[in-house]
Amino acid sequence: MDTTTCEMKDGAVTDEFDHASEAYDRLVAANPGYHAHLRISARRLGLPGRGSGLRLLDLGCGTGASTAALLHALPRARIAGVDASRGMLDAARAKRWPAGVSFHQARAEELTPDWAAEHLGGPVDAVFGAYLIRNCPDPDALLSSVRALLRPGGRIVLHEYSVADSAAARAVWSAVCWGVVIPAGRVLTGRADLFRYLWRSVLEFDGRGALLERMRRAGLESVASAPLPGWQHGITHTFAGRRPPDRGPSGQDPPGAGERAPHPPGEPGPRPLPTPEEPADDR
Ligand SMILES: C[S@@+](CC[C@H](N)C(=O)[O-])C[C@H]1O[C@@H](n2cnc3c(N)ncnc32)[C@H](O)[C@@H]1O
Repeated sequence: MDTTTCEMKDGAVTDEFDHASEAYDRLVAANPGYHAHLRISARRLGLPGRGSGLRLLDLGCGTGASTAALLHALPRARIAGVDASRGMLDAARAKRWPAGVSFHQARAEELTPDWAAEHLGGPVDAVFGAYLIRNCPDPDALLSSVRALLRPGGRIVLHEYSVADSAAARAVWSAVCWGVVIPAGRVLTGRADLFRYLWRSVLEFDGRGALLERMRRAGLESVASAPLPGWQHGITHTFAGRRPPDRGPSGQDPPGAGERAPHPPGEPGPRPLPTPEEPADDR
């Protein structure tokens, strides 16, 4: 395969996801921690009231694994899943969802506030993007459209592979891809292009520091990352931030801006993300 990852992101990735859509759920089920980690990142949105009255976007929702994680963390929210691939969306729509969940076909970086007003009724309280930004040909365009879709003070969580800052993480990633992911993907889907692309796109993607800086440049604040457990430690991370709230003439945050969910009784609450000044938490 001579196609570069950049060329793939301009269109062929969507065709490859269409092709892989029927096998996708079986593939991710074989990845220990896949669903649990999505649920951890969804909780890291830190939204209150189990999502009551909130509008959420799941960008690059695929077959709905990330949508289900959002629903698990925030069962009272309205959730719109968006994906470029018709095949992945068909697989998502074929599952049972409560009335507050809807699915839409679009490219995430092309969504506008007008689209949100028409399809969702207004700006969103939070955006979740699991394994999306690395697949976008222009990650800055994605972040700028996300910022415009969020209400002031609205949150973003990206759940993404990032190995560029760690030689150990790159070595584990290559070993897992060539030992498991690429052979299993070939068996389950009949071809390996998507899985070789996955391997290369992760190696070429931003390190943790670069992605946090990219988020800041897009006008997001309180950006931070946190690790996930298991073999993915140091490989898959949660990246969180928010659109700055509208600050009054005093320059103070309005009440409630950036508030964290209270811990539900009996459950560990959302783990506050470390600040960028606490890198020891995510190595
Ligand atoms: C690896 S899958 C992840 C799906 C889901 N979020 C999950 O966690 O299982 C990535 C998804 O992003 C979608 N995608 C890639 N680039 C996209 C874009 N520019 N706009 C919308 N969806 C995109 C793909 O079609 C695919 O369904």
